[in-house]
Amino acid sequence: MSPYAHITGWGMAVPERVLTNAELSLMVETSDEWIFSRTGIRERHIADPEQTTASLAVEASLEALRIARLKPADLDLIIVATSSPEHIFPATACLVQDRIGATKAGAFDLLAACSGFIYGLNMATQAISSGSVHTALVIGAETLSRLVDWKDRNTCILFGDGAGAFVLQAAEERAGVLSAVMRSDGSGSDLLTLPGGGSRFPTTIDTVTQGLHYVQMNGREVFRFATRVMSQSTQEAVAKAGLRLEDIQLVIPHQANQRIIETALKNLEIPPERCFINLDRYGNNSTASIPIATCEAFTAGRLKPGDNIVMVGFGAGLTWGAAVVEWSGPFHGVRKLRPARLRLYARIRSFILRLLRRIDAWMWGRNNP
Ligand code: COA
Repeated sequence: MSPYAHITGWGMAVPERVLTNAELSLMVETSDEWIFSRTGIRERHIADPEQTTASLAVEASLEALRIARLKPADLDLIIVATSSPEHIFPATACLVQDRIGATKAGAFDLLAACSGFIYGLNMATQAISSGSVHTALVIGAETLSRLVDWKDRNTCILFGDGAGAFVLQAAEERAGVLSAVMRSDGSGSDLLTLPGGGSRFPTTIDTVTQGLHYVQMNGREVFRFATRVMSQSTQEAVAKAGLRLEDIQLVIPHQANQRIIETALKNLEIPPERCFINLDRYGNNSTASIPIATCEAFTAGRLKPGDNIVMVGFGAGLTWGAAVVEWSGPFHGVRKLRPARLRLYARIRSFILRLLRRIDAWMWGRNNP
């Protein structure tokens, strides 16, 4: 029997700085009333200059490891799903690997925009059920505030910064991620895009003048697409898990827009009280929204062992997907983690590795003049 991927640790990190709709209305022509009535968003968190996608990811990851009572060295795999990576390459996942000291883990980024966390969860689950990986860390992390045009009221009102992480561990008992579906439709790639800075439009003065380094969106079309696919993929994932919608205790949707979520729930005939929504306080955190909502649902007492949950997302690509999870909670480890100490060890380790690399290069240069 293939092992199941249980969610045994979870963590989140959001910047302290909160940007309210009232503050936004001083920056662009908008109002709290307009934003709240169209999106359900009241405020969002914005990274300070020294915070980055990787630094938020590290914070969320160490919290998830603390709850799972695992050391970073126990990890076999790190996936960072992000729409705002630190660089095109290296992968943000490698920066996280170094900063937490995950000495045995493979690490890569996954780009499926706001559906990225569902995709990453599924990929890590498949790696666990194949037997090639025992313990994985899946992270959704964003600093989208760096990629939106703060003069464009169509987009800047929507997004926020933050990170969320899950630890997945193999176990024989049936629980954890029971099923997942992933879908895409690249014919809609122009509906939500950040066109500049890649190989199609490498950064030049012209691309910057045209604002190609900012998020561009056709809001109405994205709205129509999202309402359609959320209910479809939820139904597919639930059926794949051998369950019915009545068996689902909680839906944790991608937190993009209250009206999108309400329409999807109506189509599915799921009452609003069986759905967790926190977008009023965060806006759209892209890949981080589902793990952050999961952490808050747990803290609010909405997740109990044995509960069946649907996580469902959609985003640029176009991409969409859903996963059904039976909540199980941490295994009964006894190890206590001290995140500050782990960070220090990882920094020392990274420093020594860099130093050794320089010494090695110097010696190689002397021997091969
Ligand atoms: N404040 C005030 N007015 C605004 C505004 C803002 N922030 N943004 C747009 N408007 C204006 C438009 O200019 C337009 O004015 P006009 O009629 O004079 O041309 C009017 O409001 C209606 O614009 P429209 O784009 O049709 O609004 P909408 O009802 O579709 O709402 C969104 C816009 C963006 C809130 C909505 O389309 C949406 O949420 N779409 C999904 C986006 C999303 O979730 N993206 C992320 C996916 S992962």
